[in-house]
Amino acid sequence: MNTLQLALPGVLPDSVEWVWRDDFDEVSDVRRFEHTTVMRDEIVQAIAPRPGGVYLDATLGGGGHTVALLEAEPKARIVAFDRDPTAIAAARERLAPVADRVTLVHAAFSSVREQLEAVGLARVDGVVADLGVSSPQLDDPERGMSFRREGPLDMRMDPESGETALELLERLSDDELANVIYQYGDERRSRRIARSIKKALAVGELRTTLDLRRAIVRAVGPARVGGIDPATRAFQAIRIAVNGELEELERLLASLPEFVAEGGIVAILSFHSLEDRLVKRAFAGPGWDRLTKKPMSPSDEERAQNARARSAKLRAAQRVPAGEGEP
Ligand SMILES: C[S@@+](CC[C@H](N)C(=O)[O-])C[C@H]1O[C@@H](n2cnc3c(N)ncnc32)[C@H](O)[C@@H]1O
Repeated sequence: MNTLQLALPGVLPDSVEWVWRDDFDEVSDVRRFEHTTVMRDEIVQAIAPRPGGVYLDATLGGGGHTVALLEAEPKARIVAFDRDPTAIAAARERLAPVADRVTLVHAAFSSVREQLEAVGLARVDGVVADLGVSSPQLDDPERGMSFRREGPLDMRMDPESGETALELLERLSDDELANVIYQYGDERRSRRIARSIKKALAVGELRTTLDLRRAIVRAVGPARVGGIDPATRAFQAIRIAVNGELEELERLLASLPEFVAEGGIVAILSFHSLEDRLVKRAFAGPGWDRLTKKPMSPSDEERAQNARARSAKLRAAQRVPAGEGEP
């Protein structure tokens, strides 16, 4: 196993190198890693990067927000996290021309504070987080995230750690699974769906994503004309559970005050009402000035061009000294 060493010139003490595992050798074609960035301009305007500033992109993905911030301020630097090794590998190639201004970290954003601390970087001047999964993750059948393509029941953003979807489905009881599908998928037929999934597992008929879709359709019937696919909500719910997405966000939000500099702006794009609720609550707390009283949505034009943008909500807040900010 190789190690990859990247330093953040001018930011980290010379003696410190950022070291982590380099296990991306098997990624052959990073050019296919395409993701349409949501609310690019709004995020740049919100964060307003300044010369010499260091910014955190908690969700690098295709690198769209990182590139936008670097373009907006040629003297800014970015530390970019992703838990998906393929996203890091693709960005390493794509961002090569600006490598001296970007530090890539393969880690979950719940550990941002520890990772920054480990290299002696105490503060960042702003943060962007664009939650959820990227198009390449959804589109690659081997990731098992889409009900439209046959693939293994995996769904992990980081295929190297944690429980797969199949392992989760095996571990949870009928009731626990129904609760996951109800809470994270807002699916009122959750009990029926959970029973059908567990039954398919018991008779050895649940191996792939299409098996899972069939088990869901058996429980709720086929799609209605013009309606969403009957598997949409349950798939989303299981993916959120596999990746601990809400726990990750809670931990990131709780840690922000420890590393966002005074005056620094945090902009978070969420795609699920539970995520948006967590962000709203965090920004209403002490030490934050909300820059968006109501969440911003993408323009009509962006919504028309990018289906994924339709459910996006952007909230931004500025770090203020403890005791200041809104009551
Ligand atoms: C929507 S995409 C980001 C797209 C990016 N902003 C762009 O414009 O290209 C979200 C990315 O965040 C990563 N991600 C999601 N949750 C994460 C977490 N808890 N820690 C680190 N990365 C995460 C996913 O692996 C995915 O690559």
